[in-house]
Amino acid sequence: MKTLVIVTHPNMEASRVNKAWVEELKKQGDITIHELYKAYPDENIDVAKEQQLVEAHDRVIFQFPLFWYSPPALLKKWFDSVLQYGWAFGPEGDKTAGKQLGVAVSTYGSEESYQSTGFNQFTIQEILRPIEATAKFISASYLPHFTLNDVSNLTDERLAQNSADYIRHLNSVKPVVNV
Ligand SMILES: Cc1cc2nc3c(=O)[nH]c(=O)nc-3n(C[C@H](O)[C@H](O)[C@H](O)COP(=O)(O)O)c2cc1C
Repeated sequence: MKTLVIVTHPNMEASRVNKAWVEELKKQGDITIHELYKAYPDENIDVAKEQQLVEAHDRVIFQFPLFWYSPPALLKKWFDSVLQYGWAFGPEGDKTAGKQLGVAVSTYGSEESYQSTGFNQFTIQEILRPIEATAKFISASYLPHFTLNDVSNLTDERLAQNSADYIRHLNSVKPVVNV
């Protein structure tokens, strides 16, 4: 299973979580790490190159910090420009069919806040529905997400533990089969 992790963080220098996750991913050796803001500082996405990258992998993980209950803007632009008619969907648009898509997301809000009874009212799974729906639309399967919440109360120990958990997650996660 060839895995591509598309990292979208506009300020990696100031990042703690996504930076630590990338460092952990780099140790694996068999994972392609693609940092969108680094690849495209002018935000001008090379669509053909991105499509080739996706085609060369079986699984794509979108890793990002949650910004206003959404991925950072460049990832939305990536979806809008890369997932083209005739490539990802429509007649002969079968290049994403059978691939696996997943999300790794960090949030300021605590786990309790992302519940129907909590401050943010919606679960992370609900907030990520547009990506789940996109996966279905392009005939890919959607993986259970990986999260790190409550980043303002994060000890170095919990971050190290969570980064190791991220790799375990990638090594074991399977699409949810609806019966
Ligand atoms: C513009 C912006 C919007 C944000 N919106 C949210 C949000 O909607 N929910 C949330 O829990 N955290 C939000 N945050 C906090 C980030 O998700 C948090 O700082 C990030 O996940 C930490 O990861 P990092 O250490 O890799 O930067 C926001 C941060 C910024 C800068």
